[in-house]
Amino acid sequence: MAFPEGFLWGGATAANQVEGAWNVDGRGPAMTDVTMGGSVKQTRKITYLDADGNPGYLERHGKLPEGARYAVLPDHYYPNHIGVDEYHRFEEDIALFAEMGFKTYRMSISWSRLYPTGLEAEPNAAGVEHYRRVFQCLRDHNIEPLVAIWHFDTPLYLEEHCSGWLNRETIDHYVRYAETCFREYKGLVRYWLTFNEINNGMPQDNLKNPLPQWRYQEGVQILHYQFVASAKAVQIGHEIDPNNMIGNMICGICYYPGTCDPADIELNRHMWEQKIFYCGDVQCKGEYPSFTRRVWAAHDVDESKLDITEDDLAELKRGTVDMYTFSYYMSQNVTTHTDVEEVGGNMSSGARNPYLTYSDWGWSTDPSGLTYYLEVVNDRYHLPIIITENGLGAFDTVEEDGSIHDPYRIDYFRQHVQAMQRAIDWGVNLIGYTTWGCIDVVSAGTGEMRKRYGFIYVDMDDEGKGTLDRSRKDSFYWYQRCIATDGEDLG
Ligand code: BG6
Repeated sequence: MAFPEGFLWGGATAANQVEGAWNVDGRGPAMTDVTMGGSVKQTRKITYLDADGNPGYLERHGKLPEGARYAVLPDHYYPNHIGVDEYHRFEEDIALFAEMGFKTYRMSISWSRLYPTGLEAEPNAAGVEHYRRVFQCLRDHNIEPLVAIWHFDTPLYLEEHCSGWLNRETIDHYVRYAETCFREYKGLVRYWLTFNEINNGMPQDNLKNPLPQWRYQEGVQILHYQFVASAKAVQIGHEIDPNNMIGNMICGICYYPGTCDPADIELNRHMWEQKIFYCGDVQCKGEYPSFTRRVWAAHDVDESKLDITEDDLAELKRGTVDMYTFSYYMSQNVTTHTDVEEVGGNMSSGARNPYLTYSDWGWSTDPSGLTYYLEVVNDRYHLPIIITENGLGAFDTVEEDGSIHDPYRIDYFRQHVQAMQRAIDWGVNLIGYTTWGCIDVVSAGTGEMRKRYGFIYVDMDDEGKGTLDRSRKDSFYWYQRCIATDGEDLG
């Protein structure tokens, strides 16, 4: 079958969604630690105390009122505080990954575990040691770590007191942290990602409601600082160990025109440019693409207010990535027509596609879109590719005898593995695949546990009740066979 020798089969998680231990061994808080759980109907809320000490609730991207402070409120539940307790159970979890035959495990380092506020000159030794033990454990099981340096978790202190990524100085704080990672884990980690789904920083209007201009003005500036931070990290990573393979990471959505109306065809191309190629081109080609000014103008971004220097542009040129990596969950229909049903998913939205099925959370299932996406980015960048996330969030039921039958998940993965096989047959240089939430994790979007992605079930509910015990779902054995036969046995 199609998969090349040494193909990196594996699974993926992120520190803030699995580790828990949010205030253990010197770790500082991140935004997820002041974010409550939600659901598909109820957005997650960020909590704070106002200037008079009264509790308050913010939406994502909301601005703190004058004098307010982010706060963990009593009698409120914060699912990321516990995660699935991987901080204390990583040995058990890695043994299960090894049992499935993982060749790689994609995970992230929590920035605030190494630099609790982000401002420290030296890292927190306990945090550094923790990840050394995790990486050593992976190596002991012959599993190659694939490590994201940032997965939506800037230290809360930087966000609250230093304007986060709207402040140029955050570049230096990030670079100091990234350098620590490269130095400390040299020889243990070779595959790195600088930023998870960096393109989620580029806003996207809902079908029927445009976003305010400031969202784009800030989004473009934040992205620029992150591009520079990433480019500097890539250069340092290469200096410290020329064997390092460093990638970007894009939230890969396959956009389709909603109709054959020429206006939809054009809007669809613009969507690919704004959401997929804008970030991909900067990180893979080292320069802003030709359509950049059009993207800015379309959203009234005032160029004269952007802080982009000649030195920055030179950094981008020097710091291009070695591989293209992306998450893939769905395709989306782009249209100028408003008489359609809007569907959401993974921080974006589009019109319902009548040819696809949708999950209980409204995310479309579209394996053909994966083949399409792979061919597009293979042709555009000519880099090795890893799909660093793909999976189905679904409700699971534990039977009386403890078994968990998840044919829907097996079906989803079977179709996506076949889609990868097709792409490889057609010439795509795909070198790895890490399924999302290989063990159940706290959902990033909704904060739920019951939106489960794993091959491994974790006994924990949305209120924090459960033993945290792990058990194998039917899909565990399916993926084990898939890996053992390099994608031949998908039955
Ligand atoms: C990706 C993120 O956007 O999608 C993950 O990188 C996230 O952190 C995953 O968990 C699935 O999204 P959700 O909202 O179902 O957890």
